[in-house]
Amino acid sequence: MRILIGSEKGGSGKTTVATNIAVELSRRGRDVLLIDTDPQASARKWADRRSQAGDNRPRVHCTERRGDVFGAIQDAADRYQDIIIDAGGRDSEELRSAMTAAELLLVPLRPSQLDLETVTTMRKLISLVRSFNRSLIDRVLLTQMPTHRLIRETHDAREALEELDGVSLSPSRIYERKAYRDAVTQGLGVVELPGPARAEVQVLVEEVIGLLEPSGCHTVTQCDSVTV
Ligand SMILES: Nc1ncnc2c1ncn2[C@@H]1O[C@H](COP(=O)(O)OP(=O)(O)O)[C@@H](O)[C@H]1O
Ligand SMILES: [Mg+2]
Repeated sequence: MRILIGSEKGGSGKTTVATNIAVELSRRGRDVLLIDTDPQASARKWADRRSQAGDNRPRVHCTERRGDVFGAIQDAADRYQDIIIDAGGRDSEELRSAMTAAELLLVPLRPSQLDLETVTTMRKLISLVRSFNRSLIDRVLLTQMPTHRLIRETHDAREALEELDGVSLSPSRIYERKAYRDAVTQGLGVVELPGPARAEVQVLVEEVIGLLEPSGCHTVTQCDSVTV
C-alpha cells in the first residue's frame, strides 16, 4: 500500500497519523517504510528515537527524501509492502510528486475554521493530480477532535465538509489525546500505549486496508470499541 499523509496546513497531525499508521502496520507483521519528505524531518527524528530505544518493538524503516519523490516511492514499492509518506504542511514539489505515486491520500484536518479553509485549495490540487494518477483515493481525516461532548466543533466541521463538493470524509476519528503527544516523544505508536487512542488507530488502519486491499486476507486485530 502506498499511503500519503498530506495537507497544506502545518500542525494538522500529519506526522502523528503517519507514524501511528506505520507502527500499527508493522505490528501486523507488514514490512513498512516511512518516507519523510518534510524538511522539518519530524518523522525521521521519531524513527531515530524508536530505533535508539533498542527494545523489541517492531522496526519501522524510515528514510528522508526531498524534491521529486515519485521515483523513490516507486522503487520502495518493489521492496516494501507498505510505504507511508509524511508530507510538509504546504504545497510543494514533494507533496505533488508524492500525490502522483500514492494510492491513498489522507488529509488530516483539525475541526477549526482555519483548517477547513485549506480544503478548497487541496481539492483543486487533487483534481489536477488526477490527470496523472486517476486511481488516487483521497479522504479527509478529522484529527485532534475535542473529547468534550459539549464542544460542537466536530459536528460543525462535519457539516461544513459535507456541503463541499467532492470531499470524502473518513469515518475514522482521531481525538485530541495526550497519548498521541507522549507516543511521538518516545518513538512509539499509541497502539503501544494503554488507552482509547489505540482503538482509534486500529480502526483507521482497518479502514485503510479496506480501501486498498478490500479482498486481501488481512489480520484483524482485536479492536476495542472507540471510547471518548
Ligand atoms: N490527536 C492528537 N492529540 C493530541 N495531540 C496531537 C494529536 N495530533 C497531533 N498532536 C500534536 O500536535 C502537534 C502537531 O502535530 P503533527 O503531527 O506534528 O502535525 P503536522 O505533521 O501536520 O505538522 C504535535 O505537537 C503533536 O504531538
Ligand atoms: Mg509533520
